[in-house]
Amino acid sequence: MTRWIRAVAPPRVVNIEDLRRLAQRRLPAAVFDYLDGGAEGESTLKENCRAFDALTFRPRNAIAVPNCDLRTKVLGSELSFPALLAPVGYSRMMHPDGEVAAARGAGAAGTAYILSTISGHKLEDVKAASSGPVWYQLYLVGGREAAEAALERARVAGFSVLAVTIDTGTAGMRERDVRNGTAELMSGKLLAMLPFLPQFLSRPGWLMAFLRDGGIHKLPNVIIPGCGPMALIDVAAALAGSVVTWQDFQWLRAVWPGPIVVKGVLTGDDARRSIDAGAAGVIVSNHGGRQLDSVPATLRALPEVVKVVDGQIEVLMDGGVRRGSDIVKAICMGARAVLVGRAYAYGLGAAGEAGVVPPTWPT
Ligand SMILES: Cc1cc2nc3c(=O)[nH]c(=O)nc-3n(C[C@H](O)[C@H](O)[C@H](O)COP(=O)(O)O)c2cc1C
Repeated sequence: MTRWIRAVAPPRVVNIEDLRRLAQRRLPAAVFDYLDGGAEGESTLKENCRAFDALTFRPRNAIAVPNCDLRTKVLGSELSFPALLAPVGYSRMMHPDGEVAAARGAGAAGTAYILSTISGHKLEDVKAASSGPVWYQLYLVGGREAAEAALERARVAGFSVLAVTIDTGTAGMRERDVRNGTAELMSGKLLAMLPFLPQFLSRPGWLMAFLRDGGIHKLPNVIIPGCGPMALIDVAAALAGSVVTWQDFQWLRAVWPGPIVVKGVLTGDDARRSIDAGAAGVIVSNHGGRQLDSVPATLRALPEVVKVVDGQIEVLMDGGVRRGSDIVKAICMGARAVLVGRAYAYGLGAAGEAGVVPPTWPT
């Protein structure tokens, strides 16, 4: 661990872009691009960050600043600052400790971690690793029966909030994944894999850790009745066959006793439907530009949603948050808190748990 803490200490790592660079150096192209890339021309991915850069502060100076209290409460979860760790599917690919390390880092920093359905670790282990709140993100990839079993396990384990992602009717068209041979690499067929294998030889540290971890694991939280855990390679097809619709929310409210937050809202219309569906909150999100390209940057979509919601439920946002000042901008525009995805996942890829919340960073 000390080696990793040193690896992410200043001056080598001062901001998220530094973590991104380190992740690129440690991860094979297929893994780094899975994390870093977006859908099609990646316009939305870029716009998410550009929108933050384009928004400027209107400061009031000559004001004494007492100790800042950043604590907040989001859907009943007490947080020490207004940023949660977003669900990042199969984080175990970035580092063997994956979701467990991210949850532990979130807890240590006093914030919440949202576990993706597409997790390489058991949800019980992830919850046990964190001293903070943990939420569960749901896809219906295994059908309703598999989802009900996972939600019951999550409830028993102490997950407090359910985040239902509505923007993944099919897996996004990610051109970098096609170039890197991601599907071929996951096929397990040596002949198909062969042309794409050299990228791993230049990343021996990652490769050794990946092999020691036993390679690609099945999904321990998606148990298909009669078949067992779902294989990672089956996820893309399963996503396409399992769209979450507004009709599903009635059933979800019956099987999940806690608050439900709808992730993937970009318009006032969908915010209204979320309220009608009984949601306690919405997350203004375009999936970090990984799903439908050419949708607006989330910071630009936020005001319409905030206006329609009008304080009836909580509004969170994600997409493009890379700095503390981005969090402040989102809150100024009406969000209660933000989620960060790539910002911590780069750290996970660069240095495991030490990179999620570098202990040497100023707080
Ligand atoms: C590698 C990766 C995997 C993701 N997997 C999921 C997922 O399984 N479920 C989900 O709801 N969102 C997923 N997301 C989207 C994030 O939860 C979040 O909406 C997005 O990362 C926010 O944008 P940012 O990365 O610019 O912070 C993923 C994002 C990344 C980068």
